[in-house]
Amino acid sequence: MKKNDPIGVFDSGVGGLSVLKELLKVFPEENFKYIGDTLRMPYGVRTPKDVESSTFECLNFLAEQGVKGIVIACNTATCYGLKNAQEKLDIPVVGVVEPACSYAYLVTKNNKVALIATEGTVKSKVYEETIKKFNKNIVLKGVGAPQLVLDVENGNLNNDIVEKTITNYLNEFEDFDYDTLILGCTHFPLAREAFEKIFEKQNRKVKLVDPANRTAVALKDILRKDDLLNQEKNPKIDFFSTNNLGKFKNTVENVIDTDNEESFKEVFI
Ligand code: DGL
Repeated sequence: MKKNDPIGVFDSGVGGLSVLKELLKVFPEENFKYIGDTLRMPYGVRTPKDVESSTFECLNFLAEQGVKGIVIACNTATCYGLKNAQEKLDIPVVGVVEPACSYAYLVTKNNKVALIATEGTVKSKVYEETIKKFNKNIVLKGVGAPQLVLDVENGNLNNDIVEKTITNYLNEFEDFDYDTLILGCTHFPLAREAFEKIFEKQNRKVKLVDPANRTAVALKDILRKDDLLNQEKNPKIDFFSTNNLGKFKNTVENVIDTDNEESFKEVFI
């Protein structure tokens, strides 16, 4: 492996761009290859086996592209596919759940942590098990929010539509008196301002946890130890999608604002 080999990023679709954005801040001098499995998304409503195998196919594609490490940006794919990928691939693979929990456990003061995620992520109980490794007294309650994935996918990031959807889901926490909310789906940090607005209106102080920064730092630690950090003058990002490249490219160009050279390709895997 070489220092200027790219870093691979995988998501079920465009949601992982929220993670890529943070990666670009933490790694300004790295090349990236990002794949969004737009053909098979949403992952949040698919079976565990299905998510595990699609995740592995996409990660294997990135490995074949010669990446030196991979970030599974997708929470659902992390829950069902991280272990399998770490066992089978001979490059470092990091997911988003452990970094999110390592931050949530530090910021919660009352040990009540809420999780808003896909139904698959909530059902997997991986967040619950992971946060308890940091502090077994933490109580985590999860709510699955499929409509919020669709709202964000349709570009409703900060408007009345998405605010209404978020408010409905937050009502499901009822009398759970959480002080920390994990945005446990790649799409949700893209609607962060809408979450903040709602809590402000409700006069509630809730710490929002976006797994992205901690995930980027976790990978940086690994690459530093392996002496694989790059110092590229003109880094490049290659984007791949498994369907509808035009729509995917539009969203990328709306969300990612960099000086990096970019290329787009549709792939069949
Ligand atoms: N990327 C997925 C996640 O973070 C959300 C979208 C989907 O259901 O595919 O869980």
